[in-house]
Amino acid sequence: MVEVSTSILSVKEKEASKVFLGLEAAKTDYFHIDVMDGKFVEKNTYSEMLEYSSYIRRISNLPLDVHLMVEDIDKAIDDYLAVEPNIITFHLEACKNKEEVFFYINKIKENNCKVGISIKPETNIEEIYEYLPYIHLVLVMTVEPGKGGQTLLSDMINKISDLKNYTDENNMEIDIEADGGINLRTAPEVKSAGANILVAGTAILMARDYGVIIKELKMNPPC
Ligand code: DX5
Ligand code: ZN
Repeated sequence: MVEVSTSILSVKEKEASKVFLGLEAAKTDYFHIDVMDGKFVEKNTYSEMLEYSSYIRRISNLPLDVHLMVEDIDKAIDDYLAVEPNIITFHLEACKNKEEVFFYINKIKENNCKVGISIKPETNIEEIYEYLPYIHLVLVMTVEPGKGGQTLLSDMINKISDLKNYTDENNMEIDIEADGGINLRTAPEVKSAGANILVAGTAILMARDYGVIIKELKMNPPC
């Protein structure tokens, strides 16, 4: 079954409570928390997303899917562990070497949290293969990280299917999450390629009825 992780990046503070409760009622599977530090990417959402996350923690039991787009991954892991996330995903491109990647993988797992690694559009999928036995999720960026409302980069579809083929061939149970430009038009090919968690922000938050679009995004892809 495909799951939906709604990005709350564009939620305005004055409507936050209504939106978060509405998304829970609409059966989003996760809240996707886009943490940006103004260095790894231009925008800085660091404290806003921390505030939103602790607020959601107080009003909902739904899992937090934290996407770190930061240079100082170690500090962000410490800060965001405080809101008891279910998944913390960091960017391979923000790591200087293999030892650093494994340090973060172990630190997140030691804190009873699932670990994901994310890769930007220009990063080859093969660069992540050696970490797959140790992580729970791969977050394939289908847009350039840094903002919502972008158009999905269609050549990322092949990257998702290459990853799916590799994990199938190697009998790996790993979630493949696609993030950026996901909507009712792009979701079918993303799901057919092998993504089982879809991140959507604009497509859901702009919808009149969150429940209708979340239900449609979850529907099985055409065979
Ligand atoms: C981009 C973020 C995405 C983005 C998704 O850097 O990682 O999660 O907010 O937003 P939409 O669905 O509008 O592309
Ligand atoms: Zn994201």
